[in-house]
Amino acid sequence: MSGAAGFIGSHLCDRLLAEGHSVLAVDNFITGADRNLEHLRGNPAFTFREWDVCQPLEVDGPVDGVLHLASLASPKDYFKHPIETLEVGSTGTRNMLEVARQHNARFLLTSTSECYGDPMVHPQVETYWGNVNPVGPRSCYDESKRYAEAITMAYHRVHGVRTNIARIFNTYGPRMQLHDGRVVPAFIDQALRDQPMTVYGDGSQTRSFCYVDDLADGLYRLAFSEERYPVNLGNPAEMTICEFAERIRRLTGTTAPLTFEPLPEDDPKQRQPQIDKAKRVLGWSPKVDLETGLRATIEYFQNLDAPVGAR
Ligand SMILES: NC(=O)c1ccc[n+]([C@@H]2O[C@H](COP(=O)([O-])OP(=O)(O)OC[C@H]3O[C@@H](n4cnc5c(N)ncnc54)[C@H](O)[C@@H]3O)[C@@H](O)[C@H]2O)c1
Repeated sequence: MSGAAGFIGSHLCDRLLAEGHSVLAVDNFITGADRNLEHLRGNPAFTFREWDVCQPLEVDGPVDGVLHLASLASPKDYFKHPIETLEVGSTGTRNMLEVARQHNARFLLTSTSECYGDPMVHPQVETYWGNVNPVGPRSCYDESKRYAEAITMAYHRVHGVRTNIARIFNTYGPRMQLHDGRVVPAFIDQALRDQPMTVYGDGSQTRSFCYVDDLADGLYRLAFSEERYPVNLGNPAEMTICEFAERIRRLTGTTAPLTFEPLPEDDPKQRQPQIDKAKRVLGWSPKVDLETGLRATIEYFQNLDAPVGAR
């Protein structure tokens, strides 16, 4: 698995190991953290290799599945590393597809709802082709994933690799980076420090948040499915950013106010997955309600002794 030391990757490692699989975890730590995998050290079914997947990866022995999660994933990270983002989505994806091809293994790509850009169709269904600005600041991420999807389909069509593509919507939970610019850790961090919570725009833009255990379950099911076209994975429970901030204020007990700042360029106004396909093809839908997920996430950040994101 590439990107294994990241937020979602580390949870997917847990899930694979719990199901009895052996995992070779690969990461270059550009945004991942040692501590996310600390608890797996000493597990005989778990091996870690520090590696940049933009370099060809050689794996000895049998490989049943290749799970490609490596990417810069938060706006703050991909704004800081736009070229690395394009590189890992293109060269990195191709290198991981090569591992799958050479070992006759399954392949799973973690793509993103950002492929839909600022969507003209709501909620977003897999057949919608998106509204992406190819030269805007977010294009390094959006287009790297669109390319990654395209080359994944090409490896399926040309080489017959059994590929799967997950279009992941906003996911949250323990092991997110505290300062990656994403709204969940940003709000929780500010709330726990009793600082004003920063809302971009007027806060009427919507998001839908999926708890990471639910997402790992969806990825696990998809990795073994026969569906070759993209499948949305996310929680359709949509709310405005202001409503979301209020939930966090209530759960943390902060009395700090909200402050408003200008909306970043190309920030999507609405985001809600249409998950009928995941229900039909994978028998999957999210189970963890927002309150339960947020409590676990807040508890994680409360117990964090130092910011995640550096080793
Ligand atoms: N978290 C979300 O809400 C979300 C939403 C949509 C899609 N995704 C996708 O899910 C995947 C995981 O995201 P995440 O939230 O866990 O992010 P993350 O930043 O926590 O994890 C990504 C991991 O990839 C590693 N990585 C990046 N470039 C690499 C390279 N060249 N070689 C090896 N490792 C490399 C990083 O060090 C990090 O550990 C990504 O592909 C992301 O695009 C996440």
